[in-house]
Amino acid sequence: MQTPLNALLGCTHPVIQTAMGWVADAGLVSATGRAGGFGFLAGAVMSPEEVAAGIADIRRQTDAPFGVNFHMYVPQAPKIVDICIAEGVRAVSYSRSPDAKTIERFKSAGILCIPTVGALKHAVKAVELGADALVVQGSEGGGHTGRVATSILLPQVREAVTVPLAAAGGFRDGAGLIAALSLGADGVAMGTRFLLTRESPVPESTKRVYLATPPENIVVSDALDGMSQRMVLNSQLKQLMTSSSLGLLVRAIANAFKLSRQTGDSPWALLRSGWRMYRAGDDSLGAMLMSANAPMMIQEAVVHGRPDDGILPSGQVAGLIADLPSVEDLLHGMMSGANAALSRLQSVQTSNNETTGSAASLSHPSQSNTG
Ligand SMILES: Cc1cc2nc3c(=O)[nH]c(=O)nc-3n(C[C@H](O)[C@H](O)[C@H](O)COP(=O)(O)O)c2cc1C
Repeated sequence: MQTPLNALLGCTHPVIQTAMGWVADAGLVSATGRAGGFGFLAGAVMSPEEVAAGIADIRRQTDAPFGVNFHMYVPQAPKIVDICIAEGVRAVSYSRSPDAKTIERFKSAGILCIPTVGALKHAVKAVELGADALVVQGSEGGGHTGRVATSILLPQVREAVTVPLAAAGGFRDGAGLIAALSLGADGVAMGTRFLLTRESPVPESTKRVYLATPPENIVVSDALDGMSQRMVLNSQLKQLMTSSSLGLLVRAIANAFKLSRQTGDSPWALLRSGWRMYRAGDDSLGAMLMSANAPMMIQEAVVHGRPDDGILPSGQVAGLIADLPSVEDLLHGMMSGANAALSRLQSVQTSNNETTGSAASLSHPSQSNTG
């Protein structure tokens, strides 16, 4: 299937594996590339050294093109930008836009800029700033997410911009890919579906919780880090949602110290990056103070395999997923599912033609009667 999206990215299928912190590692990205999709390395939660090692690891495993996701406001962002440019990765993705100068540096190095947007106004702004394509994520999507459903946001964005679009939020199969194309996208971008594959590094104990959760228990809340985030409604999330402001603050401070021990950045450096985000209007004061909660609590579930003690960011689509295929089987199944969906649509058209035909033949006698 050739669309403007895979033509731009240089991959076989119009399917992106999105970045997911601690999940989209070199193994998952290279498996996606080998299977003909386009993967993004989750650089937003990595040190510059880990990003460089991840890029080298992917290149050892595949020649397929891939991208790197990064977070503009973390203290080490400038070094990660330099690494992406020096390594000449095919694309970068981000949800907090870098400044115009950084975007210009990527573009003059021939690196595609593919931000994720969750609202029409962000889509328009991102294209004005130079985005080459967009991941348009509706509210069904996992992790930080907007308020407008994919089925509404996608046509809104399609009417407003001309760059290739990958629809995100709620996709898992070939029928979804065809639905996205018919709403104006050029392909799909999936997170949760790739998290639930054999190559995803998430421990089995946590994958089992994702597989067992129905869609109505995958909810949006700002109780984790002050921003709307879609997650599995487990006991930890319920506790956060019912905590007092003081309880939330105490937990956030404890997590900030744990995060600073893990990354080597001082708590002040973390606070400074939160302050920059707040000043740029990208974050609320509450979100700035709570920003260390997400990394610490998500790692508990997706890295350490203790789903009951941590938080599981998830798209609502997890409620429709019941298996853990290899990435190769997933993409192969998606493309044959897309062909099956197209044949089904063609048969609807054929049967409509037949109905119209018989209606026409029925109408002849009455026409001749009236005639
Ligand atoms: C566990 C998890 C971690 C995520 N981490 C990131 C991240 O680090 N950076 C990012 O831009 N998006 C992140 N996201 C959002 C995904 O990249 C993607 O946009 C979203 O999952 C798409 O919706 P879907 O899950 O319905 O496919 C994360 C999502 C999940 C489920």
